[in-house]
Amino acid sequence: MYEIIYRSVAKPNISADDIAKILETARNFNSENEITGCLLFHNNEFIQIIEGEKSTLLNLYESIKKDKRHGNVMLLAEAEIQNRIFPNWSMAYYQLNENDSVNIDKLLFVNNFITLSELIEKPTHASRLFWLMAKQLLER
Ligand SMILES: Cc1cc2nc3c(=O)[nH]c(=O)nc-3n(C[C@H](O)[C@H](O)[C@H](O)COP(=O)(O)O)c2cc1C
Repeated sequence: MYEIIYRSVAKPNISADDIAKILETARNFNSENEITGCLLFHNNEFIQIIEGEKSTLLNLYESIKKDKRHGNVMLLAEAEIQNRIFPNWSMAYYQLNENDSVNIDKLLFVNNFITLSELIEKPTHASRLFWLMAKQLLER
């Protein structure tokens, strides 16, 4: 089992419809290929974790890098893993809005998200913790 984590910059003015289409493609392909993960969207940037069989993931990552709906794709981590963080999600999605940061947890999460995505270069406990936090947010 393998994981790949990257961040990227969405194309300018990406629409909700564009994102819905990305998720539809992702969920169809991923569920057929035993890939799981989570996509976060904030400040016009994506951060994504994909989990699955190594060669399937590497091929998928090549297609994702070529996708015109985003650019500046930057690999943050790739590693062999023992178990999935998102076993029940073909692709979880969470959009972090500045406006709904009334909740202190979310505000902290947004800040951690930005800082960590800049800091994590190697698979670390920090990146695992980061995705576990993301999962908690989704399950609320
Ligand atoms: C931010 C982002 C995340 C994506 N995540 C996935 C994904 O998890 N699984 C997937 O099959 N496609 C995903 N895609 C779509 C792929 O980039 C691509 O459209 C898909 O693999 C089909 O590629 P093809 O047209 O070359 O066959 C994502 C695209 C973007 C922009």
